[in-house]
Amino acid sequence: MSRFDEHVQAYIDHKGFPNIHEPMFASIKRNTPEGARFLDLGCCQGLLAVQVAVKHAGHVIGVDGSAGYIKNAIEHPNVQYYLLKIDGDEALCALQDIIMEHQVQFVIARRIMPEIVETAGIGLATKVARMFRTVGVGVFLEGRIDSKRAVNPLKNLAAETALFTGERYRVLDERRGINYLVPAA
Ligand SMILES: C[S@@+](CC[C@H](N)C(=O)[O-])C[C@H]1O[C@@H](n2cnc3c(N)ncnc32)[C@H](O)[C@@H]1O
Repeated sequence: MSRFDEHVQAYIDHKGFPNIHEPMFASIKRNTPEGARFLDLGCCQGLLAVQVAVKHAGHVIGVDGSAGYIKNAIEHPNVQYYLLKIDGDEALCALQDIIMEHQVQFVIARRIMPEIVETAGIGLATKVARMFRTVGVGVFLEGRIDSKRAVNPLKNLAAETALFTGERYRVLDERRGINYLVPAA
């Protein structure tokens, strides 16, 4: 059983949410009203999405490129899942359609932007940030743990944040490894 499977099993057994999501959830709670509409990009099996629904009355769209994760995602009436791998312009358009259709206000991006780089390159990751800015959503970013050996251009939170500030976002809140960015004027 992987570490993540263990977190899901713990949720199923005790309805407890894992500590790994605590800083992100705290930032979401601090910066958004209850009942807001979220997209959790790279949602895995939905542990964070369900936490936002249960403890913050959020309506959450979970998107992940893994069929296995989406098939086994945790069900909740306020969470809806989509299987979508962000691997090119067509997927980018589909993601924008999902955001518009569900009137998403905030995107949760926890350790997903570097994965998009690994799937399709930094060019597509930049287009994702640009599309978010065009539709005007706030973005919660949590980056990878920095490593000197990393070759990914989005190797840490600072690099991810720079990608978004380069697309006319500004940092509104910065705490405990989570940056909350909003469209700049
Ligand atoms: C490091 S995990 C992060 C999971 C979750 N955001 C969290 O922090 O608990 C990355 C997730 O992104 C998904 N993923 C990776 N590349 C993707 C892509 N190009 N499009 C959509 N999902 C992707 C993986 O299937 C995995 O669930």
